Amino acid sequence: MHNFLSLADVTDLDALIQSGLNAKANPFADEALGHHKTIGLLFFNSSLRTRLSTEKAARNLGLNVMTLNVGSDSWGLEMEDGVLMNGDKAEHVREAAAVMGRYCNILAIRAFAGLTDRELDYKELVMNQFAKYAGVSIVNLESATRHPLQSLADCITIEEARVKSTIMPARPKVVLTWLPHFKPLPQAVANSFAEWMNARAAAGHIEFVVTHPEGYELAPQFVGNARVYHNQDEAFAGADFIYGKNWSSYTHYGQVLTQDPAWAVTMDKMRLTNEGKMMHCLPVRRNLKIADEVLDSPQSLVIEQAANREWSAQAVLREILLSLK
Ligand code: CP
Repeated sequence: MHNFLSLADVTDLDALIQSGLNAKANPFADEALGHHKTIGLLFFNSSLRTRLSTEKAARNLGLNVMTLNVGSDSWGLEMEDGVLMNGDKAEHVREAAAVMGRYCNILAIRAFAGLTDRELDYKELVMNQFAKYAGVSIVNLESATRHPLQSLADCITIEEARVKSTIMPARPKVVLTWLPHFKPLPQAVANSFAEWMNARAAAGHIEFVVTHPEGYELAPQFVGNARVYHNQDEAFAGADFIYGKNWSSYTHYGQVLTQDPAWAVTMDKMRLTNEGKMMHCLPVRRNLKIADEVLDSPQSLVIEQAANREWSAQAVLREILLSLK
């Protein structure tokens, strides 16, 4: 693996999930792999889990770690080529990426969608410009349209829970549900989860369903072959996993079309499921999106899911380090 920008960079998903589980069982088995190598973590946006879990995973592999909050710790970066730089951005990505590529063997980047220009966001300018100009491996720590390290952690979490369960079918039903929120949020986590779950469904591992109010359709390339319901109760019937996330509209780009509280997940909703497990990437606004009674119940997997971010990052960094040997 050279870059990890999306599922397209994964050649064997089953093997990558197993690699994450192996790292969890034996975190320091590959601690010599990153010796005398450096990863740079670049954050254009806030983070708790991604920042800490990626740093921890990198250290487990023996990597040196440097972290930069772009804009606040460094110069603002211009991403577009061929522009007159007479605005507030003092440095161009061509130089910044090339320089950081000289200090680091791997650059891992978080840069969210702006949610004002759909075409610009879905072009993935930041990831693609770094991939073009850094000359080293690039890892996506959540981009405008995807969050693949989260999706890999989600796959690991689902696989672990499936194996542990005595009541789940061999091919569990996984439901991605839209949740209410007052702010417009990116589609990246939902897009990515749908992309990875469609791959798991195509391989026969799960059944995948999406539910959201009308107007919240995800981009067709992410919905794929998922069954889509506008009735949340119907979607929840017999589900083994409920994956909650808010996203703003793709069609009416970046808009909040409804805040209907009936879409929040409560214990009454969970009773429609097959004693389903509740998942969310975090952070979560309690009682706005998911009720306390659900988050604090044994059905919630959110802490284990966040803990598995360390192992998804370690599996990916291991693959990249093996390709550098
Ligand atoms: N789930 C996730 O990416 O969390 P952070 O935004 O805190 O990194």
